[in-house]
Amino acid sequence: MYWLDDTLKKQIKNIVQKLKKSQKVHIVSHIDADGITSASIAYKALERAGNEVSVEFIKQLESDKISSLRDAEHELIWFTDFGSGQLEALNGIDCIITDHHEPQGTAGMPTGVQRGNILSYANSTVLELNPHRYGINGATELSGAGTTYLVAREMGDNKDLSKLAVVGAVGDLQTVRDGKLIGKNREILQDGTDGRYIECRKETTLYGLESRPIPKVLQYASDPVLPGLTGDGTACTNFLTDLNIPLKEDGDWRKWYQLSQGEKKKILSAVGKRMLEHGYPPSYVESLVGEVYTFPGEDKGSMVHEAKEFSTLLNSCGRYKKGEIGLKICLGDRDEYYNKAMQLLQGHRQVLVDCMKYVESVGITRMDNLQYFHGGDRIPDTVLGTVVGMVLGSGNVDRDMPMLGFTESGEKEGLKVSSRGTKQLTDAGLDLSIVMSNCSKQLGGEGGGHNIAAGAFIPEGTEEEFLSLADEIIKKQLS
Ligand code: C5P
Ligand code: C5P
Ligand code: ZN
Repeated sequence: MYWLDDTLKKQIKNIVQKLKKSQKVHIVSHIDADGITSASIAYKALERAGNEVSVEFIKQLESDKISSLRDAEHELIWFTDFGSGQLEALNGIDCIITDHHEPQGTAGMPTGVQRGNILSYANSTVLELNPHRYGINGATELSGAGTTYLVAREMGDNKDLSKLAVVGAVGDLQTVRDGKLIGKNREILQDGTDGRYIECRKETTLYGLESRPIPKVLQYASDPVLPGLTGDGTACTNFLTDLNIPLKEDGDWRKWYQLSQGEKKKILSAVGKRMLEHGYPPSYVESLVGEVYTFPGEDKGSMVHEAKEFSTLLNSCGRYKKGEIGLKICLGDRDEYYNKAMQLLQGHRQVLVDCMKYVESVGITRMDNLQYFHGGDRIPDTVLGTVVGMVLGSGNVDRDMPMLGFTESGEKEGLKVSSRGTKQLTDAGLDLSIVMSNCSKQLGGEGGGHNIAAGAFIPEGTEEEFLSLADEIIKKQLS
């Protein structure tokens, strides 16, 4: 669809023009890894272009926040990794949006029809770039950081920032479905490998290749769950010992990246064999191998050498109100702020362990078309989505229905809802973005996101009603 590609290029140029006319730019971004890398890309590109730049990170672009931004009268605001769900509310504020969430009013529409919607915003003060409007899937082919990078690349010599765009896409789990970056993300990856900012190799898709002791890589594996290994540390150690894999070297735990090719192959074949014996389809075994992205400029074994782990480090900052620390790391700090982030990472890991234990204690409730848990006030709203995803991938629940979670722990009165699906479910018609946005709207809340992962904020005490509305819509989507 070359005409869409043309209009995409034109829109990027419009945005660059608008940026050139402004002296001061205020960046507002999301608190997760994709949001932090998006803001960092915008920051660096603007700084290089000689602009004065300020940044703030927020959980969600809700209406009260939009009002306070309107009152602040910034010369120009650049929203990254959100904004497309709030186009109408943002009108009147001079701003740019580089986002990949489903645009307001277009969720679920086929691409092309979505484009028609741009026209209704033609007189708006908002200039938006969103892949969904140009035939690019914002859940799998381009992240918020990638969308922002497309603008940065047009602003000047900024191809080194492709590295951050890859961290953003990986952090938003855009490689999960295919085991590698696809679509527009791949074009960005190419910029990175051409410039030797990024290396790409075939590897296992398991998490923690540089930071975790090898038994932990297996023990914490989810999606697919490794039969007899996931969740059982002793079994993992015995399994590796039986394969004659030395677990320690000079008293230190060995990491996956330190294994020889032969050792890696031996482990993966044995794991694959086990999965087949347990009746897993071959595609699950194949999903154990994919692409891994590493950064030659960084120290091996650090949290910033490989994209997935880099994104975890950023999440450990942003989700605890320390987005600026993540920003400093993206801008190059490997000293003071890197060390601070490493401390936050310890805390983040502990929070996730505690949340998983709590969910186990309260249990999962199954309805006809969805399953859910209620986190009471024990799960921080900023990690609820991560926890819902981990529960769905834990191997202890069925994956034939989407998983929802509730928490009351936010600063405002009300409930945060998070939802996660699977590829099988979205292929069958599930669109959680529509579920979250419609159901919350009917109850006086707000919500949105992607087909496979979406969230909402709803008034206190409305969870029962929300669940029955959601159950009904999901039933329709999947029938
Ligand atoms: O706000 P944002 O777009 O950055 O977040 C996307 C969310 O979607 C992430 O929390 C990511 O974990 C989730 N996701 C998922 N499964 C996928 C793709 C994305 O849970 N296959
Ligand atoms: O918060 P959570 O991780 O569950 O969010 C999943 C996705 O839904 C993210 O992409 C997030 O930006 C989006 N979302 C949204 N509106 C909300 C809550 C979440 O668009 N009110
Ligand atoms: Zn994102």
